[in-house]
Amino acid sequence: MLSEKTIGIVKSTAPVLEVKGKEITTHFYKTMFEAHPELLHIFNHANQQKGRQQTALANTVTAAAKYIDQLEVLLPVVKQIAHKHRSLAIKAEHYPIVGEFLLKAIKEVLGDAATEEILQAWAEAYGAIADIFIQVEKEMYEEAEQQKNGWKDFKPFRIVDKVKESQSITSFYLAPADGQGVPSFSPGQYVSLRINIDGETYLQNRQYSLSDSPNEKMYRISVKREDEGTPAGKVSNYLHECEIGYEVEVSAPAGDFVLDFKNRKPAYLISGGVGVTPLLSMLKTIVANDPEQEVTFIHAAKNSNVHAFGEEVKDSVALSNHARNYLLYSEPTSEDKRERKYDQEGYIDQAFLESVVKENDGQFYVCGPVPFIKAVVSELKQLEVKTENIHYEFFGPAINIEEP
Ligand code: HEM
Repeated sequence: MLSEKTIGIVKSTAPVLEVKGKEITTHFYKTMFEAHPELLHIFNHANQQKGRQQTALANTVTAAAKYIDQLEVLLPVVKQIAHKHRSLAIKAEHYPIVGEFLLKAIKEVLGDAATEEILQAWAEAYGAIADIFIQVEKEMYEEAEQQKNGWKDFKPFRIVDKVKESQSITSFYLAPADGQGVPSFSPGQYVSLRINIDGETYLQNRQYSLSDSPNEKMYRISVKREDEGTPAGKVSNYLHECEIGYEVEVSAPAGDFVLDFKNRKPAYLISGGVGVTPLLSMLKTIVANDPEQEVTFIHAAKNSNVHAFGEEVKDSVALSNHARNYLLYSEPTSEDKRERKYDQEGYIDQAFLESVVKENDGQFYVCGPVPFIKAVVSELKQLEVKTENIHYEFFGPAINIEEP
C-alpha cells in the first residue's frame, strides 16, 4: 500500500508530467536502449520513430499519477496494455529496468524540480503500478499456456498458404512448425509475429489481427502492403515477399477488442480498409455459431482494387437471416460505377449511420485507421450510442482518441 504522503506527492506532480511526459519518455527510451540494446529485439522500431510509443507510455504514466489512489480505475487500461505485453513476452524481470530508466529520465528532465522526496514517491508509485502489471500478466501467461495446444512466449510457425485478397492485402495461413494444432481465440484478437529480417541486427515484432473464425489447425492473418519507405510497412512488406514454407515466430492470441458473445443486442461491425480483419473474424463467428444474432457489417474502402474479402463477407452474410452488409467506396473506379459494385459512394457519415442503425443500444465494434475511428466514434456518439457500447481498435500503440 502506498502511504498518504506518497499518493499526495505523486498526484501533485501529475500536471508537470502531463506537460513534460513526452520529453521524459523520449529521454527514457533513448537512455534505456543505450544501456540495454537487447530490448530493441522487443520494441517496435517504427512506433519509436513516429513517437507513438513515447506518447502511449506518457499517457499511461500521467493517468497512473492522476488515479494513483484509485488503481481500480486503471484496471481496464492495464488489461489492454498487459495483453500487448503478454503477446510480446514481456517479463517481470523487465520491470526494474524500465523503472530505473524512467526515474532517471524524470530526474534529468525535471532537473532541480525533481527533489529527492518526489523521486522517492515516484519510485514507490512505479513499484506499485509495476506489481499490478506483473500480476495481471502472470495470469495471462498461465491462461495462454493452459489452453489446449497452448504455449508460452513465441513458437515457430510456417506459412502454409498465401492468398491475395486485393491489390494491397494478402492473407497468410500460419500453422505450428511442430505439426500441433492451435488454441482457439476470441474473434477480434491479434497475434504477434517475430521476424528476423535478412541482414538486420534486431528482431522485429508486429501485431496482426486474426481474420478468420477460430479453427483448431491454423491461424489466418491478412496483411496490407504499405507504400515503400514508410517505416510502418517494413515488416508487412517483407511478409508479402515471403513464400509458403517460410518460418516466423508467433505468440498466442491476445487482445481485449473482442466480441461480447453474451450480449444479445444487435452487433454493428464497422471497418475501414484493412481494419476489416478482426471484424470479419467476428462476422464469420457470429453467423456460424448464432444465426439468430442480429449483425450488420459495414465496410468502407477506396474502391474495388483495394477492397478485400467482398465475396467472403457476402457468403457469410448469406448464412444468416439476421445478417446484412453495406459497402461504401470513397473513390469508385468507372468499372465499379458501371457494375454498381457498392451500396453507397462516399464515407461513413452521420446520415448513412442514421439510415442503417436500427437500435442505438446495440454493440458497436469499429476498426480502421485513426481518422476513420475518430470520425465513426464521434458520429456514433451523435446518435447517442453509449460510450460503453462502442468498442474500437486501431493498429499501433493505444492512443486517446479524445485528444486533439
Ligand atoms: C506497450 C505502458 C512496462 C515493453 C505499452 C503501451 C503502454 C505501455 C501504454 C502501449 C499499449 C498498446 O499498444 O496498446 C507500460 C507501463 C509500464 C510498462 C505503464 C510499467 C508500469 C513495460 C516493460 C517492458 C515494456 C517492463 C519491457 C521492457 C513494451 C512493448 C510494447 C509496450 C515492447 C509494445 C510497443 C511497441 O513495440 O510499439 N506499454 N509499459 N513495457 N510495452 Fe509497456
